[in-house]
Amino acid sequence: MTSSLKDKAVIVTGSSSGIGAAVVRQLADRGCNVVINFSRSQGPADTVAEECRAKGVEALVVKANIADDADCKRLVAETEHAFGRIDGLVNNAGTTKFVAHNDLDGLSGSDFLDIYQVNVVGAYQMIRAAAPIMRKDGGGSVVNVSSIAGVMGTGSCIAYAASKGALNTMTLSLARALGPEIRVNTVCPGFVQGDWLRNGMGADRYDATKAHLEATNPLRRAGGPEHMAEAVVMFLEAGSHITGEFLLADGGQHLAGAPIAIR
Ligand SMILES: NC(=O)c1ccc[n+]([C@@H]2O[C@H](COP(=O)([O-])OP(=O)(O)OC[C@H]3O[C@@H](n4cnc5c(N)ncnc54)[C@H](OP(=O)(O)O)[C@@H]3O)[C@@H](O)[C@H]2O)c1
Repeated sequence: MTSSLKDKAVIVTGSSSGIGAAVVRQLADRGCNVVINFSRSQGPADTVAEECRAKGVEALVVKANIADDADCKRLVAETEHAFGRIDGLVNNAGTTKFVAHNDLDGLSGSDFLDIYQVNVVGAYQMIRAAAPIMRKDGGGSVVNVSSIAGVMGTGSCIAYAASKGALNTMTLSLARALGPEIRVNTVCPGFVQGDWLRNGMGADRYDATKAHLEATNPLRRAGGPEHMAEAVVMFLEAGSHITGEFLLADGGQHLAGAPIAIR
């Protein structure tokens, strides 16, 4: 069956690696043209673009720091110039600092602001820039990549969890504000295998956490970027009556770790 995404155009922020790269690969599999965004990693972004082009779609690579509003506007303008339309936007680029939650002195006010500037303000700026073009072509779908941290208050640091909680709340506000033409939903990944966590946690803790999840998650595995991408693409490709939703893509991690409600 032909995908509803065939010949459409979707921007994926932070798509030079990890979840974002997995999303653009899966979009290309469906015949969707993609915009690959990065802020530092030009080489990896170009490699991902080549992989997409080999699948027969057009892939535009744009360097833009989504923390910067002028860069967000330029990213959207270059997309419109290349494809004449924007059907989907995936706000995937994110940042954090790894600080133990009980180390209250480990996070400064500027750490909070830096993390918010990308994870919350960046997503807002991208949506604000893209929405008029999405509306012009009959509407579209926005998918924010949040985190289980924003639901459970867990994750790499308190500022990161708070930023993802804010992103989840913003999803509700924008779903209300941008309907009926634009749907806004959020995917909340759990543990994702890859360098983000391996570098942040250190190899020993990363391996131990992965093994723990493989033993306790209801689905008995630690997820990879491709599992998160499946959930993102689902919101882009289908779900025409779904907006303002959060989807935990965590193999059931929230169930295994949840306190027992009735003793
Ligand atoms: N990994 C996990 O376990 C996990 C769990 C839950 C949620 N998440 C969320 O998933 C998203 C993707 O994470 P990932 O694990 O795939 O990490 P990743 O492999 O490190 O990818 C991050 C991507 O974001 C880009 N990026 C970072 N800051 C940017 C900025 N200011 N402007 C534009 N691009 C920027 C990076 O490109 P450059 O290198 O060029 O900057 C890279 O392409 C993030 O929002 C993260 O919070 C991850």
